[in-house]
Amino acid sequence: MQIIVKNIAKDYGKRLNAVHAIKDISLEVNKGEFLGIMGPSGAGKSTLLNMISTNERPDHGQVIIDDIDMTQLHDRELAKYRRNKMGFIYQSFELLDSLNVKENIILPLALNHANKKFIESRVKHLNYLLNIEKLSNRNVDDLSLGQRQLVSAARA
Ligand SMILES: Nc1ncnc2c1ncn2[C@@H]1O[C@H](COP(=O)(O)OP(=O)(O)O)[C@@H](O)[C@H]1O
Ligand SMILES: [Mg+2]
Repeated sequence: MQIIVKNIAKDYGKRLNAVHAIKDISLEVNKGEFLGIMGPSGAGKSTLLNMISTNERPDHGQVIIDDIDMTQLHDRELAKYRRNKMGFIYQSFELLDSLNVKENIILPLALNHANKKFIESRVKHLNYLLNIEKLSNRNVDDLSLGQRQLVSAARA
């Protein structure tokens, strides 16, 4: 996946209350590269990530992923793109407590109507990679923070 961010800007609020969360950011991330974004609280890191992940739209500029200008896509197309191509690990994990560990992990595949055989093989592989097989039927509320992190990574 290649990500190109071109001159994006995002404001929140209006007039006197306006916050220029992002002013003019451009960057490029190529396949296989890892990028960390650092800055003090309120610097605009989450805003930037929300734009790159297409969860929010910039006021100006473009986010181009694998040659597709994401700012031109409709919400439904974006949702489909995120589901198929992106994985998210949130700071507070955002696991669903009404589902067990296995159900949380397969949620993105289930939403995508993946077939059962494929889902089972993915779960098996992820359980092996992350060594979380034993957690499969557990309630996510009862997991340690480290275990939640692993489950969140598996879902991503
Ligand atoms: N939904 C929002 N409504 C209004 N202001 C926001 C919103 N989200 C973020 N901001 C403001 O934008 C600025 C950047 O926030 P954020 O991107 O969350 O920073 P960081 O993740 O680096 O701590 C902050 O001043 C924050 O208060
Ligand atoms: Mg943040």
